[in-house]
Amino acid sequence: MMNGSAFNYFCSTLKQMTMLHAHAGLRLLILLFLLAAIVKSLAGWLGKKPYGKSDNIIAVILIALTHTQAIIGIVVYAMSDMIKAGLSDMASTMKNPALRFWAVEHGVIMILVVVLITLGRVKSKKAATDELKHKKGAIFYIIALVLILWAGVIKPLALGRGWF
Ligand code: HEM
Ligand code: HEM
Repeated sequence: MMNGSAFNYFCSTLKQMTMLHAHAGLRLLILLFLLAAIVKSLAGWLGKKPYGKSDNIIAVILIALTHTQAIIGIVVYAMSDMIKAGLSDMASTMKNPALRFWAVEHGVIMILVVVLITLGRVKSKKAATDELKHKKGAIFYIIALVLILWAGVIKPLALGRGWF
């Protein structure tokens, strides 16, 4: 039989793992819609196409997924035993590249990504012409993609994390 504290530990680990898998999986959906938004806005900008209904739908789904991911990320951060341990001794955390990445770099870069994707949408929505709508989206989304590839794909894989 499990005693109380072992049971609490089990539940806490299960909650952390569930949120972490949701967080890793949602990233793939974000990448899919981010790539679609980039391809469509580049094609629209360079090919001088009208800003259509599908451009709008992709942009709204992308921003909704991204805001949801930010909330899940903050919850993961608050629940994580690894982060708790890291924050309790910042002097050694900053000297440990893997721990420093998760405790500091990932969150900071990803908040920046969320801001960039939100700005891309807001600027694109406010732009006066269809060409500008495509252009604003394309520029902000491409910068966001580079940052996600680095801090949300390459680094996590290099640190031994999986795809889901
Ligand atoms: C604390 C949580 C959140 C904050 C602070 C936040 C903040 C924002 C901001 C600043 C904007 C831009 C508003 C503008 O157009 O001027 C925005 C847009 C948007 N957010 Fe969030 N958001 C949050 C959570 C969510 C969640 C959970 C979802 C969806 C599941 C979501 C979906 C959207 C969508 C779809 C838009 C774009 C609407 C449009 O341009 O048509 N947000 N949000
Ligand atoms: C577009 C936004 C984001 C993407 C694409 C992303 C992606 C990822 C990925 C792929 C992992 C590794 C998952 C695994 O090991 O299975 C991860 C872990 C993590 N993320 Fe994010 N993330 C984002 C935003 C955030 C934000 C805003 C925060 C909080 C401030 C955050 C906090 C964390 C933490 C703390 C972990 C590691 C937790 C642990 O291992 O205990 N993420 N993220």
